[in-house]
Amino acid sequence: MKLRDSGMPDERYWDSLFDVPTILDALEITNELVDVAEMGCGFGTFTIPAAKRISGTLFAFDIDPEMIARTAERAKAAGMRNVDCRQRDIMEQGFNLPAGSVDAVLLFNILHCESPEILLGQAAHVLREGGFVLIIHWRHDDRTPRGPNLAIRPQPEQVIAWAQLNPSLRAIGRPIDLPPWHYGLRLTRLTN
Ligand SMILES: C[S@@+](CC[C@H](N)C(=O)[O-])C[C@H]1O[C@@H](n2cnc3c(N)ncnc32)[C@H](O)[C@@H]1O
Repeated sequence: MKLRDSGMPDERYWDSLFDVPTILDALEITNELVDVAEMGCGFGTFTIPAAKRISGTLFAFDIDPEMIARTAERAKAAGMRNVDCRQRDIMEQGFNLPAGSVDAVLLFNILHCESPEILLGQAAHVLREGGFVLIIHWRHDDRTPRGPNLAIRPQPEQVIAWAQLNPSLRAIGRPIDLPPWHYGLRLTRLTN
């Protein structure tokens, strides 16, 4: 099922809303991460820059075939061989990656979905112990130029509370300010 309020505007406009290098730096996306999974890659706004930083494969998932095609096209244009684009309904079907197989799961502008605790559980399942769920979302502010309705837009405290419901996950540090419009959060997958 396509998650609520997840339609996309014009690609160039969407890409203009983020300071991508600053966001990836703040979330510590570096070559110390090997394989990474991304839920809802959209146009590949973060997929391609993140794949350039990591040392393994970036598995990019989206329910929308046009988004998958666009991300694959951008990866090819950038000469990247470590982007693996897969059309899939992650809410219904999960990632279909081996348990404990990735170093990080990216949930960018995603957690306003209907069942965030299910999605966090799917992320925890594919993460290795000590791996990371890396999150950004729109600030809870009606001046943001895009973003889901404020009534369903989660604040960082809400995301931390959802994570606390999962015995495998724990928030690391405090929410990160990502001007102009976003915040970030890092969760870690605990040892069983
Ligand atoms: C708001 S966009 C965010 C895109 C990207 N994460 C970013 O921040 O640039 C949400 C994306 O999630 C995708 N999506 C929605 N429901 C999904 C599902 N059930 N499984 C996989 N992808 C989904 C949409 O097609 C859309 O591309």
